[in-house]
Amino acid sequence: MNKRPLAPLARFPALRLRRLRRTDWSRRLHAQTRLSADDLIWAIILKDGKNVREPVAALPGVYRLSPDEAVTAALEARELGIPALALFPFTDAEGRTPGGEEAVNPDNLMCRAARAIKAEVPEVGLMADVALDPYTDHGHDGLMRDGEILNDETVQILVKQSVVQAQAGFDIIAPSDMMDGRVGAIRKGLDEAGFQHVMIMAYAAKYASAFYGPYREAIGSSGVLKGDKRTYQMDPANSDEAIREVALDLAEGADSVMVKPGLPYLDIVARVKDEFGAPTFVFQVSGEYAQIKAAAQNGWIDGDKAMMESLLAFKRAGADGIITYFAAEAARTLKQSIR
Ligand code: PBG
Repeated sequence: MNKRPLAPLARFPALRLRRLRRTDWSRRLHAQTRLSADDLIWAIILKDGKNVREPVAALPGVYRLSPDEAVTAALEARELGIPALALFPFTDAEGRTPGGEEAVNPDNLMCRAARAIKAEVPEVGLMADVALDPYTDHGHDGLMRDGEILNDETVQILVKQSVVQAQAGFDIIAPSDMMDGRVGAIRKGLDEAGFQHVMIMAYAAKYASAFYGPYREAIGSSGVLKGDKRTYQMDPANSDEAIREVALDLAEGADSVMVKPGLPYLDIVARVKDEFGAPTFVFQVSGEYAQIKAAAQNGWIDGDKAMMESLLAFKRAGADGIITYFAAEAARTLKQSIR
């Protein structure tokens, strides 16, 4: 972050800050932050089947896509210059088990979609969410015993899940589970399986947030989740703890770190980027997307402008990239605005 003297060198009337804002060319010339399609990772929800494009009620404009439709999305991403997709699987109640075994099935929905995409659009990066919540019948990210989410036992399964995902062709392994020690264990597991080149993006500062609501509907977790995730996700009251989480994940071998949610946590994004200078990503989560869409549908805000402003704000705070459901829409808007 830029450290500059706060006091201006000249004063009014010699100094008029409105001077630079008068014209479009001048505003463009003096813009300090820029958003490009290169900054975006497109969040995609998967569903089993063929030719499936099923709307998610709480995420207007977002569809659950079958693997063949995800391939179409990947082609669109390539066309729009979006570097990578982040995939998340929908699982219905019948497909879920207490131990979430489907997570380590090499032929699960995530792996099939990754293989299909890599076969046709290998130039687009693929990011895999690592956690058990799409697969457990209690909707938690880890194994549960007597109401407790088990840490070390969960980490062992997450390592297997990561290796299976790397085998399917995922380029970025992104543990979102918030178990302690999982980044180091996953790095070791990937290396031992010959996946030294596969990256880890740690959901390092992930908060126990109400803004994940629509996502849980999207992946089929909302009806099944028992209780909340406050014993493993961070307390929204805390900032220093985010620094400790990020330090730990980087020390364990994370290539990049993430702050999640986004807009309500821009202070954390700025602090993390400032303290570590590591590649720092931010997740504009489902509830943030839904807020903008809902207000726009009611005619209360300009949806396109609010989308672009929110994405630019992440860059201004110091984020190197943004995981967002808006990626394709924003990339299209960026394309149109190039004169
Ligand atoms: C689960 C996971 C969540 C999200 C990404 N991975 C939800 C949760 O922790 O309950 C949230 C994404 C979003 O809200 O858009 N491990």
